[in-house]
Amino acid sequence: MKRDTDQGQSLATIDKERRIGAALAIGMRIASDQFAGSRFRWWHFDANAGAGFNEKIGVPGSPMVFWQAAHKHLALRPAPFFCDINATAIGELRTALSGNGTSVFMPMDNNAALIRFAGAITDAGENPKYATGTVVVDPNGYYYRNKQNIGAPTAALDWFLPRFPRVDIVLNLNTRIYRLQKSHGHAVLAPRDLLASLHKRHWLVGTTQHGGDSFLIAIGRNIPTGDFAAAGLYKSTSPIGQSILSAAEGGRQQKMDLFQ
Ligand SMILES: C[S@@+](CC[C@H](N)C(=O)[O-])C[C@H]1O[C@@H](n2cnc3c(N)ncnc32)[C@H](O)[C@@H]1O
Repeated sequence: MKRDTDQGQSLATIDKERRIGAALAIGMRIASDQFAGSRFRWWHFDANAGAGFNEKIGVPGSPMVFWQAAHKHLALRPAPFFCDINATAIGELRTALSGNGTSVFMPMDNNAALIRFAGAITDAGENPKYATGTVVVDPNGYYYRNKQNIGAPTAALDWFLPRFPRVDIVLNLNTRIYRLQKSHGHAVLAPRDLLASLHKRHWLVGTTQHGGDSFLIAIGRNIPTGDFAAAGLYKSTSPIGQSILSAAEGGRQQKMDLFQ
């Protein structure tokens, strides 16, 4: 039987997956208009793929959202890579995704997996400068790796993002954890500073909440797009985007000039 908290978790997770779906659709539609029928693939790396369904609440997870978006929007051949350090989760994901197209499953650490993903793109004969796709980072916590190597592929992204400028990044980050880590003196970048460090010129941002947790969803691209208000995603430079970032940072004074 579902607990009361499951309902809140469910609504917030639906919101998160809806925004991830919208984020994926933006890039897929643009690339499909440009490259339909070409030999190029749509490269996708999910760094924290999970098991396919969100625990207890039956909401499809980011890999299923990828395939739904690909079936609907993509005119390029999809090349999705799903990584999770938990081999059991990857086993369940493999079952959950049967019936979709071909996926690559990576039961391993996401830092190493992202480097392999980059190798697969170049092995396919694509130029890193022009390869298109997305990287999704949804670690449950903030943009951080703990001593057990649980979290985001921070080191590999430092290497990957400047080399693959047309691969968009989608982040879903727990900003309550950020504020907690900051108050404990951890070396974490504030959300604005983090986005400014990730080699993407344009960001859309949105937020979801449940219980005491708040999440920042941020989509980074080097080619601009407008707001996607229907999915609650706004340009980081807009007044709504700035207030989302200020709230994520715990009310830090607005820095309106950072993204100009
Ligand atoms: C919030 S869950 C992912 C949920 C999933 N994206 C979805 O939409 O349903 C975070 C996942 O990250 C995985 N994870 C944590 N650290 C990892 C690492 N270093 N490499 C790969 N996966 C990792 C965990 O095992 C967990 O399944």
